[in-house]
Amino acid sequence: MKKRRYVIAGNWKMNQTPAETKEFINKFIPMVKDCVNSDIVLCVPFVDIPAAVSAVKDTNIKIGAQNVHFMKNGAYTGEISAQMLVESGVEYVIVGHSERRQYFAETDKTVNLRTKAALDAGLKVILCLGEVLEQRENGITEEVVSMQTKLDLLGVTEEQLKNVIIAYEPVWAIGTGLTATPQQADEACGVIRKVIGELYGQNAADEIIIQYGGSMNDKNAAELLAMENVDGGLIGGASLKPEALAAIVAAAQ
Ligand code: 13P
Repeated sequence: MKKRRYVIAGNWKMNQTPAETKEFINKFIPMVKDCVNSDIVLCVPFVDIPAAVSAVKDTNIKIGAQNVHFMKNGAYTGEISAQMLVESGVEYVIVGHSERRQYFAETDKTVNLRTKAALDAGLKVILCLGEVLEQRENGITEEVVSMQTKLDLLGVTEEQLKNVIIAYEPVWAIGTGLTATPQQADEACGVIRKVIGELYGQNAADEIIIQYGGSMNDKNAAELLAMENVDGGLIGGASLKPEALAAIVAAAQ
């Protein structure tokens, strides 16, 4: 028996316009309305937030953003603050996605700053981390995910940690169709849970939600979600089809 709730989150990345967002959500609502044991989150592009928040009103679906800046306000052209997200009705925000690290020069330092800014504003953070292929091939996955967990959470209090979800996303599995085996996913999520135990104690380790992300789909979700240390999924490609995402939510039931 699983002790923790599942969190199934879609990460739409740079996909779907506001009109498409409304259409997607209207189709998706009836498909997941009876889901009771999972939190369902759609992380949408910034400009889709108003349409998404309005479409999910009075449903069991929550809205997330895909990034947040760490300053409260100021001369940071093109950036969005945590308070702006809160006032827009967003409850969750993805921080530290590997695409941000890879294409937008994010480091563990900026990921940590963003995490703390989001938590201070009252957002729930989906903190992404994971090894690249070369690191896995060299047998240093455990070291890499341990270090990322420690650096990205520096200064986050035990109370704030209750609003943190960690998404273990092996970079080699993202958008490649290659999925970590359930055992690989469980092992890495277990390493992260162990580090949380060292940093925050056993209760925190038992309670923290750790998702797997990387080519999760309606075919492989059940096996991955059945693993002891896997408490949900962060889903890219498959979250763009309401039927596929609903099937993943069903797999968690
Ligand atoms: P895919 O599901 O498309 O591999 O993307 C995973 C991901 O990056 C979710 O954040």
